[in-house]
Amino acid sequence: MSTDTLIITDVAPRDGLQNQQVPVSTEAKLKLIQLLHEAGVASIEATSFVSPKAVPQMADAADVIAGVNRQHPELRVSALVPNQKGLERAHAAGAREVAVVLSATQTMNEKNINMDLARATAVCEETLHAAHELGLRTRAYVAVAFDCPFEGPTRLETVVDLAERMNRAGAQEIVIADTIGSASPGMVKSHFEALGKTLPLHKLAAHFHDTRGMASANAWAAIQAGVRRFDASVGGIGGCPFAPGAAGNAATEDLVLMAERSGFKTNISIPGLLQAIDFAEAQLGKALGGRSIAWLRRQHAKRSTL
Ligand code: HMG
Ligand code: MG
Repeated sequence: MSTDTLIITDVAPRDGLQNQQVPVSTEAKLKLIQLLHEAGVASIEATSFVSPKAVPQMADAADVIAGVNRQHPELRVSALVPNQKGLERAHAAGAREVAVVLSATQTMNEKNINMDLARATAVCEETLHAAHELGLRTRAYVAVAFDCPFEGPTRLETVVDLAERMNRAGAQEIVIADTIGSASPGMVKSHFEALGKTLPLHKLAAHFHDTRGMASANAWAAIQAGVRRFDASVGGIGGCPFAPGAAGNAATEDLVLMAERSGFKTNISIPGLLQAIDFAEAQLGKALGGRSIAWLRRQHAKRSTL
């Protein structure tokens, strides 16, 4: 990987759709994934194998994975799994990459996956080992890495310790997540400087939510700290249903615009992303888009009429 290329995982089909009130069909999810793929997005988090009672929006996870494998066998696609049962379901459905989710506080783990911190850490470690045995690629989220909606500011030492444990358990990518979008560029700098002391920077990824409008500034701080892997969500859709106050993710179009304008490559086409946003808007029946959407649409409209 050249140091001036960002690897962006679009998490819209999972983080973006897990909290929507409007039902979205499997066919529409597959179409969204296809549009993202056509826009040049090379890595997509497609779904999650969680309890359908907890998140009914992801009940069709097996069909989504089977559909993507059929339509785009070459595409890098991951699925979130909260436990061994999720891993087994994901593997049976043909998933080739899974992501475990560990929160850095006691209460967030209890609210999200009904486990205390010690149990959640052990379950994530076991799931990573088991995924490795099955030959799957792995990501590990460290959620509420900046602030927890229940416990307040998260201890940086805990974030580093948990990220190290996920690394030792074999996670190929460790995703530092700002679940409620409360981070600021200064906090991002301190976090990644501390993490980079004991962890390989090329394995670290940043997952920002844009609650306070700072996701692009935070992504820039992470880039400056040497991070090259980012999660983002087309149209900025997203949010964890179990984290009060979690707004949408960093919008993929904002991240691509900021990165490309700053000399980094993403290999993602903004007109392609706009098509995906139009499609998602029609499905969800509401306006979507990050901070740059109005300007991007004007530019695109001008070019289309030339
Ligand atoms: P639990 O109730 O404690 O589970 O839920 P359990 O082990 O006691 O089992 C209860 C029932 O669920 C049983 O079925 C199990 O078989 C079933 P029953 O006997 O009642 O019929 N079950 C499952 N079914 C399907 N798939 C599974 C599974 N596991 C057990 N994997 C559990 C524990 C983890 C399952 C539940 O709390 C859950 O599914 N939580 C999902 C949480 C979630 O999806 N959160 C959103 C994603 S995380 C996020 O958005 C943050 C992130 O974006 C980063 C950031 O921004 O910070 C990643
Ligand atoms: Mg998230």
